[in-house]
Amino acid sequence: MKISIIGTGYVGLTTGIAFAKYGFNVVCVDKVKGKIKSLSNGVAPFYEPGLGKILKKLVDERLIEGSTNLEKAVKNSDVSFICVGTPSLPNGLISLEHVKDAAKDVGKALEKKKGYHLVVVKSTVTPLTTEKIVLALIEKYSKKKVGKDFGICMNPEFLREGNALNDALHPDRVVMGEYDKKSGDILMKLYRNFKCKKMRTKLRTAEMIKYASNSFLATKITFANEMANICEKFGIDVYEVMKGVGLDKRISPYFLNAGCGFGGSCFKKDISAIISASRSKNYTPKLLETVLDMNETQPLQIIRMAESVLGNLKNKKITLLGLSFKPGTDDVRETRALSIAKTLLKKGTKIIAYDPKAMKNFKKLAGHRNIVYAKNAKAALRKVDACIIQTSWEEFKNLRPKDFKVMKTPVVIDGRRTFDNTEIFAKNGIVYLGIGWKNFAI
Ligand code: UGA
Repeated sequence: MKISIIGTGYVGLTTGIAFAKYGFNVVCVDKVKGKIKSLSNGVAPFYEPGLGKILKKLVDERLIEGSTNLEKAVKNSDVSFICVGTPSLPNGLISLEHVKDAAKDVGKALEKKKGYHLVVVKSTVTPLTTEKIVLALIEKYSKKKVGKDFGICMNPEFLREGNALNDALHPDRVVMGEYDKKSGDILMKLYRNFKCKKMRTKLRTAEMIKYASNSFLATKITFANEMANICEKFGIDVYEVMKGVGLDKRISPYFLNAGCGFGGSCFKKDISAIISASRSKNYTPKLLETVLDMNETQPLQIIRMAESVLGNLKNKKITLLGLSFKPGTDDVRETRALSIAKTLLKKGTKIIAYDPKAMKNFKKLAGHRNIVYAKNAKAALRKVDACIIQTSWEEFKNLRPKDFKVMKTPVVIDGRRTFDNTEIFAKNGIVYLGIGWKNFAI
């Protein structure tokens, strides 16, 4: 079976690579010529650990190729995955512009194709989109009938940035929403070499599983953040508390790491979308609204901690280590570093920022004014009043107490519990404060 992938972002490219790795012939289609040129040369168009190496190998083995010709790619394949972006609209709902364009184009190509074809929606779309919009557009533009001439599935993705390749090759589960048994059987065949749990369900249920998963993960983090803020009041270490809580199999230890809030392109976008979609059906999801509200205020805990030690932050020099929304990526979308930087700048603080991968992207987001970008972490720490860690990159984990001694006042405010041994700081005369850390002796 040959596969065409429409859209070569994180989802499309990693999905394509996973299928190619399992022996299928894959063509990745994108309208952006630069992306296809880079892909055809075996160079990943964005940073993701391990992706470049495997892409180069698969391109050399001719298992994967890039193309800007969607019609040809669809006509020459048996299955097409729609992996285009669904960005947020100002009202919280998702924009279906790219999904609709892809559905129309796939439909037009199918009009000219002989034989049965399976279309799989992988883009994150709110419930009913696949059956009410994508399916209808493909029927309209192909002049063909679903169930007879083509099949349709909804196959949500659960990739984490920074770990996308591993997640694509070895997922925890594959969820397959199917229009009919024939469609689902084909998708099952594509996933036959993936050793994980597989679930077959309805199209709309698969769409909802994606939203429910991200909503739950974001809620779990927010719960840990709430516990952190409470623990701090009682001089308790929240990481120890969550270790104990996570021992319960019903809860699990994952996604209980408290910090300065979740970032990234997915959680906020998806939760906003499901809130807006629910509201359009006259239901207000209060829990999810609270999760988003709390995530906006959580970075302010960092500012409060800085003020508790330094007093007024005007004209103070503060280092901001870590600008990406999490380690292992240069992605700065919804990074908590931006809210922290903006609040500090409003207070008249001078910021020295550093990130091993995301400085270029952060500069575009936050601009250059009043932020000095350092060459490395050690250089960023020189003669500053405090240091905030927003992303726990390996480079920061390796910093030793002596590295902080070059600061004017050695104050470390850790937004992500970067260090395993936090007791070492006090022993070396360094003030260490952290989210949910037993900051003040009671
Ligand atoms: C998230 C989901 O984890 C994926 O399953 C999903 O496929 C993806 O969204 C998506 O919808 O595309 P991602 O946004 O890449 O993946 O990153 P996560 O690892 O989930 O981290 C999101 C944010 O939560 C980061 O800012 C991270 O620092 C924060 N986080 C994560 C915590 O604050 N505490 C935790 O315990 C875990």
